[in-house]
Amino acid sequence: MKSAAATVTTKDETKSTKKIVDYDEHGRAIYEDGTTSADEVPAEAVETAPPPPGDEDCDGCWEENFQSHVDTKPLGPSSVGMDLNFHGAAYVYGIPEHATQMALKPTGGSRTGDWAEPYRLYTLDVFEYELDVPMALYGDIPLMIGHDAKKTVGAFWHNPSELFVDVGESGGSQIDTHWISESGIVDLMLLSGPTALDLFEQWGTLTGTTALPPLFSIAYHQCRWNYNDEADALAVHGKFEELDFPYDVLWLDIEHTDGKRYFTWDKHNFPEPKKMIDTIAATGRKMVTIVDPHIKIDSGYHVHKEASAKGYYIKNKDGNDFDGWCWPGSSSYLDYTTEKVRDWWASQFDYDKYIGSTDALYTWNDMNEPSVFNGPEVSMQKDCKNLDGVEHREWHNLYGMYQHRATAEGLIKRNADQNDRPFVLSRSFYAGSQKWGAIWTGDNKADWSHLAISTPMLLTIGMTGLPFSGADVGGFFGNPDSELLIRWYQAGSLQPFFRAHAHHDAKRREPWVMGEPTLTHLRRAVLQRYQLLPFYYTLYHTASLVAYPVIRPLWAHYPADTETFALDDQFLAGEDLLVKPVTAPGTTSVSVYLPGGKSQQWYDVSTTE
Ligand code: NOJ
Repeated sequence: MKSAAATVTTKDETKSTKKIVDYDEHGRAIYEDGTTSADEVPAEAVETAPPPPGDEDCDGCWEENFQSHVDTKPLGPSSVGMDLNFHGAAYVYGIPEHATQMALKPTGGSRTGDWAEPYRLYTLDVFEYELDVPMALYGDIPLMIGHDAKKTVGAFWHNPSELFVDVGESGGSQIDTHWISESGIVDLMLLSGPTALDLFEQWGTLTGTTALPPLFSIAYHQCRWNYNDEADALAVHGKFEELDFPYDVLWLDIEHTDGKRYFTWDKHNFPEPKKMIDTIAATGRKMVTIVDPHIKIDSGYHVHKEASAKGYYIKNKDGNDFDGWCWPGSSSYLDYTTEKVRDWWASQFDYDKYIGSTDALYTWNDMNEPSVFNGPEVSMQKDCKNLDGVEHREWHNLYGMYQHRATAEGLIKRNADQNDRPFVLSRSFYAGSQKWGAIWTGDNKADWSHLAISTPMLLTIGMTGLPFSGADVGGFFGNPDSELLIRWYQAGSLQPFFRAHAHHDAKRREPWVMGEPTLTHLRRAVLQRYQLLPFYYTLYHTASLVAYPVIRPLWAHYPADTETFALDDQFLAGEDLLVKPVTAPGTTSVSVYLPGGKSQQWYDVSTTE
């Protein structure tokens, strides 16, 4: 047992001396009166807990600097870890979100470069993300799946703090993996399979199955940052009508608001939102507006006024409302981890609160990693606290899912008497997000490599329980040429969530902009989706019952076919539709791997031959 006398410095600079009699498993001091350094947070917070004897020189353990940011670590350093060995596994998969191949690559050891690092799971807003690196992206599902010809098994490391996972070599008698989370507890669940379908079902039982999406939401969506005003939005809508080009949903990005105050409209550009939505809804279509989690600090803004008066914001280390920079400038962030805050947020979607909204308007939650432009790694300081005084580091990876949930609950509650299904798209996610709606893979690039990576990314996200996922069709940044745009529509039309989106600096690229023959090719791709809509809807129905992903790796249905184990440039939609997107320029033919051997007959859907 270690023991030392500690000087505890509190916010008001008064000092008290307590004797430390021990340290808990997280390295937190236990004092002689039975309290711990954790008990002293948050009220008159202990700013610097003293290092245990011998740990004084442990760089970054008791206070960590990152660029201009300081993590005060008032509770001291902590971590939990475990080695998990997947016996007999040929490959391991899962642990999204990474822009990497489906079969997880070995990390660490003697490797150099990016793969010397472990896979990192810490939900972040990453600008222009790189491909084939283990770095963290917007979402986190800490489920790993091991597969070989005889079995499929899974391990769920249920810990939403920052996580690093090292993966050992495949090809031996087992794949060794090492997991280490910054804080929290060991809460490990094992899924026994033994088939992939069994495992998906077990995972659905554990974390929930996807809510059956409304039919329109699995059709084609048209988005851009931004459709500038009502006339612009209605002109885009009108052109779809004129060309008889199928689409179901028109999206409005952040510029539709009054100064990025969500739940409001720019009075000049969107003076009659209800009329605009009604016009679009009269043709059976829907609209989506963006509603982010950062709330502009402005005493004249009703959402901020009420949230601050109720004390619903996340607190900084000093106990004041956290103030971070995002689209609207200085912003505070709602504490969605707290139920009463989620309920209050949900009530903001009531028609009498969200003025101009109608039952044909649905929601997009972006920037919910959370993204904080002036925060460490563009996120929130880990020593911030939720309303229960629990540090942000403990629940960082859950934040997006809780906003997604509160929003979906809002869309359900606004129509309590109608039993309407919600549609909410979120950028950040965690295990269980499937219950609240769809996600997308964030800010990709108009580049062939980004088109290609969308297949393994969506396969991985699907097999870890989130079937309703897509990538920005056309690529968010940059300008696709006609060939790339056509190939992207063709791929997107068979992926679970199908939305074209573009950055405001990108040139306009609605389906007609490039003229013929692009328009005809795009129309064919979109019509293909509409033809297959009942099929995809049925797949979603199955997902809602037994959690089978909408798109699946081939090994899910051909478990003993070793050729399929690392195959991630083609997929099965359900069990029977085999898809291989074209992801390289100048392609006139592709080879497709047809599983099932000679006894299995495959037909070309376009010729039925
Ligand atoms: C970042 C999102 O990823 C992107 O899709 C969106 O257009 C911008 N934020 C602006 O809201």
